[in-house]
Parts: sequence; structure tokens; C-alpha cells
Amino acid sequence: MNNRRPANILVLVSGNGTNLQALIDAEKSGRLGAGKIDAVISDREEAYALKRALAAGIPFFVEAPDRSLPKEKRRRDLSDRILKRAQEREAALIILAGFLSILEGNIIDAFQGRIINLHPSLLPKFGGPGMYGERVHQAVLDAGEKESGCTVHLADAGTDTGPVILQRKVPVIPGDTPASLAERIHKEEHSALVEAAVFIIGKLTGENRETTGFDQRIR
Ligand code: GAR
Repeated sequence: MNNRRPANILVLVSGNGTNLQALIDAEKSGRLGAGKIDAVISDREEAYALKRALAAGIPFFVEAPDRSLPKEKRRRDLSDRILKRAQEREAALIILAGFLSILEGNIIDAFQGRIINLHPSLLPKFGGPGMYGERVHQAVLDAGEKESGCTVHLADAGTDTGPVILQRKVPVIPGDTPASLAERIHKEEHSALVEAAVFIIGKLTGENRETTGFDQRIR
């Protein structure tokens, strides 16, 4: 045991939450460094990830897009509400673990270098607006790619841009469907996300003094 101050993590989710579960399991077994999952936010009520948070005893909140607002204001409004939560919870790090809304505005500046995004392709391929979940895998298959994978990177003002922390590759196998490819990638995502989170937490807490920036580590 040691008495270092935990780095509060806010995890943002939209769906099943298997990546959230990987983070929860890592923390439980002491593999999350100084990281502590302090709260979970979903942009939709029906996300199964919220049940995972409940089961793990982690506070959770729903912050859904406000459909009464004009479309061009919705994204900023949601981002600002999430920023408020992050500040209230004294979050050190925000992890987008299958979060399907796009963040913009003040939160990107306030948390520069402290928002990790997970994406199910080898960015910069198959990223950007509208590229999420099954759509990504379908596009990979349509393009006849021989390999795909996942990317964990720091978020910036773009969509699926920002410095890469690490990537993992998987083969595309003849006969693959979006679902079979997604499953192969999911397995890699779980350990990749934990590894990247530990790396960034180490940087934030000063325990990881590596100064060379983000070496793109592909395995
Ligand atoms: C993951 O495959 C993640 O890479 C993807 O959503 C899935 C969430 O799975 N994220 C995106 O597509 C974001 N552009 P999970 O809910 O089981 O963690």
C-alpha cells in the first residue's frame, strides 16, 4: 500500500461498456496505477455501461444531448455540462471509452493532454465524423483492408485526431463480418486502453518521467 493521492478518472460511455469494465477490473486488481475511476457519464439512459458502474459502486450520471436546442448548439451544450461535472469531481483525466458524442469547446482546452479517446481502427484510417462502432468495421471490410485494430490517442479539437498513445493491430480474416472483426478488436482494446491510461496517469502524477512524448507503439 502507499498513500499517494489518487488521480480521479471520469469515464464517458454510450453503450455496452466492456472497455469501462476493463478499467474497473484493472483498478480492482491494482493495475491502474494511481488512477481511480471516480465517476461515469453516459450520453444515453439505456447504456448497459451504467449497470456496470452501478455494480461496481461507481457514481454515474446521464448527460444526454438536449434535443430542444438547435443542432449547432447541442454539442457545445453537452460538452459544457460534462466539463462542469469533470470540474466538480476534480477529474485529473477523462477517458472516452466508447463515447459516441463529440466533445468541443472549453472542455478540450481545460483538459488538454488529459482526454483519452479509444477508436476501433488504425487511425488516421477510418476515423472522423460518422465513423463509429459497426460503421468503422464495415468500412474496413468494404475497403478490402488486410488488417485493422484500435487506437488510443489524446483528444484535440478534431474528431479522432490528436497524438497517438498506442495502437494494436489485428488481421482481417476472409469471411469476416463487422461483428467478427469488432470482436477481435475489442479484445485488444481492453488491454490497450488500460495500458494507455496507466501511461498517461503516470505522466500526470509525475511517476512516469519519460520526456520523449508519445512514441507510437504498434504491436
Ligand atoms: C469500442 O469498440 C470503441 O472503440 C468504439 O465503441 C466501442 C465501445 O465498446 N468507439 C467508437 O467507435 C468511438 N468513435 P464498449 O461499450 O463495449 O466499451
